[in-house]
Amino acid sequence: MPLDIVIGTQWGDEGKGRIVDLLSAQADIVARYNGGDNAGHTVTVGKQTFKLHLIPSGIIHPHTLGVLGNGLVINPATLLSEMEMLKNMGVRVGPERVRLSYAAHLITPVHRALDQAQEKARGKSQIGTTGRGIGPAYTDKAARRGLRLEDMLDTQSFYDKMIAHVKGGNIQLQALYQAEPLDPEATAREYADFARQLAPYISDVGEVLYEALNSNKRVLAEGAQGTLLDLDMGTYPFVTSSYPTAAGALVGLGLGICPVGRIIGVTKAFQTRVGAGPFPTEVFAETAERLRGSGANPWDEFGTTTGRPRRVGWLDGVLLRYAVRVNGITELDITKLDILTGLNPLRICVGYRSGGKEYATLPMGPTDLAPFEPIYEELPGWERDVQSARTRSDFPKEALQFIKRIEEVSGVPVRLVSIGAERDQIAEIA
Ligand code: IMP
Repeated sequence: MPLDIVIGTQWGDEGKGRIVDLLSAQADIVARYNGGDNAGHTVTVGKQTFKLHLIPSGIIHPHTLGVLGNGLVINPATLLSEMEMLKNMGVRVGPERVRLSYAAHLITPVHRALDQAQEKARGKSQIGTTGRGIGPAYTDKAARRGLRLEDMLDTQSFYDKMIAHVKGGNIQLQALYQAEPLDPEATAREYADFARQLAPYISDVGEVLYEALNSNKRVLAEGAQGTLLDLDMGTYPFVTSSYPTAAGALVGLGLGICPVGRIIGVTKAFQTRVGAGPFPTEVFAETAERLRGSGANPWDEFGTTTGRPRRVGWLDGVLLRYAVRVNGITELDITKLDILTGLNPLRICVGYRSGGKEYATLPMGPTDLAPFEPIYEELPGWERDVQSARTRSDFPKEALQFIKRIEEVSGVPVRLVSIGAERDQIAEIA
C-alpha cells in the first residue's frame, strides 16, 4: 500500500492528533517522523483526554503499532512517563506495540539547559522555543556528536559517552551562558536506567515500515508541528529544527522514494501561532479572545506543552496555498469550524499587498512577511450550532460557503470538518 501522510499546514496545533486518531482506525502502523516532546497532540475519547508528546496518537486504537522514526529527538524521561500515563489509562505500550528507531537522537538535560540559556541570551530576538532542548539536540546531530538510541544498547560505552556529553555541555553552559553546570555522574546514572527500560523497544524501524508497505499493510505517517515551522520551508528563523513537511516523512522514517498515497493537510478554520515570528493575519482584543477561548476548556488556544496563550488570527489563504504546494497536499481536513459560529462577518486572507502591489502567492517564501498587509475577503457567518453536524447537509449554507471558499483558495478538496473535541464530532464533507 502507498504511504499516507498527515501534515500540519500552519504553525502547528492544527488538531492533527484527532485526525490521526480517526484515520488510525484503518491503519496498521502509525509513525511519527519529526520533532520531539515540543509537540502536544490531544485526543478526547469519551471522558478520557490523552495528551501525547511523543507516542503517535494512533496508539489509542488497540490494533495499531506505534513507531518513532529516526527523524525524532527523544527525551527518554518524557517517553517513559508518557508510557506510564497511557498504561494507567488502559492503553498497552509494550515493545509489541511501540518501536523506536535506533537512529533517533536523544535529548538530554544538557540540551534542555542549553535551549533555555540560548533563548535567554537572544534577549529581544527570542524565538519562543518550547524549552525542550529540540534545537540543541538537532545541533548535536548535525555536528555529528549526538547520542543516538542505539548508543543505549551498550551499557558501559553509553555511560562513558554520557559523561563526556555532559562535561562538553557544561563547558558551553558555563563559558558561553554563565549557566549552572550539570552533574555528569548523576545524569549518566539516570540515563543508564532509561537505557535499561527502553532497550527492548529499539530496532530498525525502517525495515519494519518497508516490509509493512510491501505486504499491503496500511502505514500512516504523523507529522508534528507544521509546514510554517519547517526548518527550510517555514518562517525562518522562527521555526523548529526539524522537517514537518511531507518530504520529511520519508527522511524521518528511513524510507526511500516510495509510493505515497494521500497527503492530508490539516488546517484550523482560523490561524494560530505560539512563540515569536511574523503573523500577517493576527488579531487582537475581542476577536482574539473569542477565537482563543478563556482557557477553561482543553481545546482552547493555550499550548499543550507549555500552557502559553496562542496568538490567533484569520485564516491565511496565501500561506495555505503555499503549504499545499510545498507538501503536495491532496486533500484538506478543517478543524475547529465550530469556533467560528456566531462570528459575523468572517474573514479569509486571499492575497497580500505591499508597496502598492498585490500578490496572490508569496514572492520570496514565507520568511519575511512583515512588509505584507493581508487582503481580506469577508464572508457571512452563521448562528446555528454546528457541533452535531455529521454530513454536508447538516451545515448551514454559510458554513458550506466558507468551506467552498477554502477549497477555491487552496486548490484542493476538503474532506473532513471537525466541529468539537469529541472523537465523533467530525463530519464528512466530500
Ligand atoms: P522548538 O521546537 O521548541 O525549538 O520551538 C521553535 C518554535 O516552534 C517556537 O515558536 C515554538 O513555539 C514552535 N513550536 C514547536 N513545537 C510546536 C508545536 O507542537 N506546536 C506549535 N508550535 C510549536
